[in-house]
Amino acid sequence: MKILVVGSGGREHAIAWHIAKSPKVQMVFVAPGNGGTPLDTKYLHGISNLPITDIKELAQFAIDEKIDYTVVGPEKPLSEGIVDLFRSKGLKIFGPTQKAAQLESSKDFAKAFMKRHKIPTADYATFHDAAAAHDYVNLKGAPIVIKADGLAAGKGVVVAMTLEEAHQAVEMMLSDNQLGQAGARVVIEEFLMGEEASFIVMVDGKNILALATSQDHKRLLDHDQGPNTGGMGAYSPAPIVTPEIHAKVLREIIKPTVQGMEKDGIPFTGFLYAGLMIDAQKNVKTLEFNCRMGDPETQPIMTRLKSDFVDTLIHAEQQTLNEVELEWDPRVALGVVMASYNYPNTPRTGDEIIGIPQETEHHVVFHAGTTLNNGKLVTNGGRVLCVVGLDGNVKGAQTRAYEAVSQIRFDGAQFRNDIGYRAIKK
Ligand code: AMP
Ligand code: GLY
Repeated sequence: MKILVVGSGGREHAIAWHIAKSPKVQMVFVAPGNGGTPLDTKYLHGISNLPITDIKELAQFAIDEKIDYTVVGPEKPLSEGIVDLFRSKGLKIFGPTQKAAQLESSKDFAKAFMKRHKIPTADYATFHDAAAAHDYVNLKGAPIVIKADGLAAGKGVVVAMTLEEAHQAVEMMLSDNQLGQAGARVVIEEFLMGEEASFIVMVDGKNILALATSQDHKRLLDHDQGPNTGGMGAYSPAPIVTPEIHAKVLREIIKPTVQGMEKDGIPFTGFLYAGLMIDAQKNVKTLEFNCRMGDPETQPIMTRLKSDFVDTLIHAEQQTLNEVELEWDPRVALGVVMASYNYPNTPRTGDEIIGIPQETEHHVVFHAGTTLNNGKLVTNGGRVLCVVGLDGNVKGAQTRAYEAVSQIRFDGAQFRNDIGYRAIKK
């Protein structure tokens, strides 16, 4: 088979890396890929001239290359209807339709959906009008959370600890239009306390197949300090998701979501990612839905997956995910993101990267913001690499990951030194 993976991050590298192991697969293309995809194995081909937003070109590429199956990494092409377009041309693809992708692309859609189907989430109200939003903030008090309705590349959520910050966020989105159309409508919601976890499943319209659990680290600096980022590291499994919580999430969140989408006439296919907040009493609420895998959660999840992922994708296409039982490496996988100078603001690019160790059974390095420049590997984005270590427990996996990190050098490299600390404390 020939497989196309759409995207250029560490998530897509990890998906392509796993798919390339399948004996069914002759060729994996990654569009546009990164500096790691062409280096990796003879099966991985980066198609650097195919941007993820050009969904028509991607469909034409899939037709010309006779691609058997396409997997989409990021939310943007999903929200632009890549799945609808591919299906209309008879191409097989794993992901949600444009309508179903609204679970991620519109916070208001997701919140109204959850309310309608009684899926636990923070109380909220939606506003177009700045004055009404300011009144609501005053009524509810701080802390409070202000979210742009649309996709805002990680800049759309303000967790306001004070009234002043909340009013500023309302001004920024509704009055100053700093997020454009994405912030023309805002969801204002109750602040939730607890510990976050990522719960990712595959859905074929009806059946649900849970992937291994994981936990992400969103802040830039150690001890969860500094600005929010796309994610500075993740590990799998996440001990906070005990078997009881796992069953509860499936029962109270995932199943009602998949059934609700079917009932609403928008059956969900693709990866469904529920961002969870778990409080001290073990109550679980949905912070958000994503209609894709997480980055960097995918990197440790894929390194632990032992089953043939292409078989699973075929089952998803045939709506038989209920027949799949995934096999996982019992070890812990822990990924440390190495980011470029000045990330998460405008990251510097072009710094040469040296010392990436060869893959062993104890560690794998996935590329994200890297590119090859005259044969030299250089930084090309905010999150540059995700270095995954594997071992019998979290501490061991952490040691393995940081051993590999210590061999890698590029100017301005930033990484956290405490990935996995919550699990180690437990
Ligand atoms: P989201 O994109 O909606 O997941 O929000 C990004 C981050 O903001 C989450 O990972 C949380 O850390 C935080 N966050 C979002 N919603 C809330 C909430 N209602 N209460 C507390 N923190 C939140
Ligand atoms: N790591 C969080 C996300 O992918 O949304």
